[in-house]
Amino acid sequence: VRETTEQLAHPLSAEDAVAQSMPDASPTKWHLAHSTWFFERFVLRDLLNQRPISDAYDYLFNSYYEAVGARVARHARGLLTRPSLDEVQVYRGLVTGRVSRALEGADAAVLERVELGIQHEQQHQELILTDIKHLLSMNPTLPSYGTERAGVVGTALPALSFRGDPGGLVAIGADPAGGFCFDNEAPAHRVHLEPHALASRLVTNGEYLDFIRDGGYERAELWLSDGFHWVASNRIGAPLYWLDVASGAPREFTLGGCTPLDPSEPVCHVSYYEADAYARWAGARLPTEAEWEHAARARSVSGNLLESRRFHPGPAPHADTSQLFGDCWEWTQSAYLPYPGYRPLAGALGEYNGKFMCNQMVLKGGSCATPRSHLRASYRNFFPPAARWQFTGIRLARDT
Ligand SMILES: [Fe+2]
Repeated sequence: VRETTEQLAHPLSAEDAVAQSMPDASPTKWHLAHSTWFFERFVLRDLLNQRPISDAYDYLFNSYYEAVGARVARHARGLLTRPSLDEVQVYRGLVTGRVSRALEGADAAVLERVELGIQHEQQHQELILTDIKHLLSMNPTLPSYGTERAGVVGTALPALSFRGDPGGLVAIGADPAGGFCFDNEAPAHRVHLEPHALASRLVTNGEYLDFIRDGGYERAELWLSDGFHWVASNRIGAPLYWLDVASGAPREFTLGGCTPLDPSEPVCHVSYYEADAYARWAGARLPTEAEWEHAARARSVSGNLLESRRFHPGPAPHADTSQLFGDCWEWTQSAYLPYPGYRPLAGALGEYNGKFMCNQMVLKGGSCATPRSHLRASYRNFFPPAARWQFTGIRLARDT
């Protein structure tokens, strides 16, 4: 996992790695350092009583742990020209070595904490890609991160269909005894579902273009009040990274640079508001997180994930038309809330998930930037409804 993070940073220059394009997106250098600090702080220092490598690093590389102390403001992470990228790489090597040595003869508490650090680092792998995409999109030359765009524009797609489910009392969530899960996925519990149906694949760029050309962004009746206000005040008229939408040849910025918009690929980089308005236009709704999880439980985690190194959503394959895992995180209509009986981790790590359970929506299924070993059907991602720099897409659902 540590090597994968470094491979993701490899195509970037030191300048690429230090700039910050917006408060939500952190510089690659900060991700490299913060994911290292997490191991140093919560494994080497808290559990093994090792001395700090640098007294400054708690301040520079703590993300949001109030119990750890004061820290650099999130929007100011791009001002950290020191330590240099080289110094951060040395820090990474030191901590990787110390944690590796600590694994020999480690007790269960250390092993559990190291696993949390690995899963945490995988979250930052996805953020490195989404944050660098946003940064490169700010450059007028729209440079490529380095991935090649394969694929044929306009691939023939399986028709969209809806798969019914009778509903009933279903099992949701994860039992920590059954393998790693974050605290927000537990406890496993039961949820009652009404009869419903889920779409067989994600909504495509071509379908979303039809919504735009039907005046979707101008029709208040399709939008939540907050969403219509967000559209007006930010002059939104298309997904993030779409260009020349009004022309006959729309384009899209990707990690492989600027390319013609492929109508067969899943629409991506839409906010919850856009996903919700599109669903209403299409005579459908977004799934609840329980409906999505119930459908995904029976499936293995496979699809267009980080390992495919495409770093862009692809057309639904014919062999398995579900697309439940990979390609785009799928907005659900469920607010991010604690499950019945939820208990945050003890100590500072209790701040990992629980304190964000307000004003955010749950997303499921992972994206083309999520490592496969990081995902589960019970995995709960969460973002505020206006966020769209993550690889976020749309699956439709219906009451039946
Ligand atoms: Fe983090």
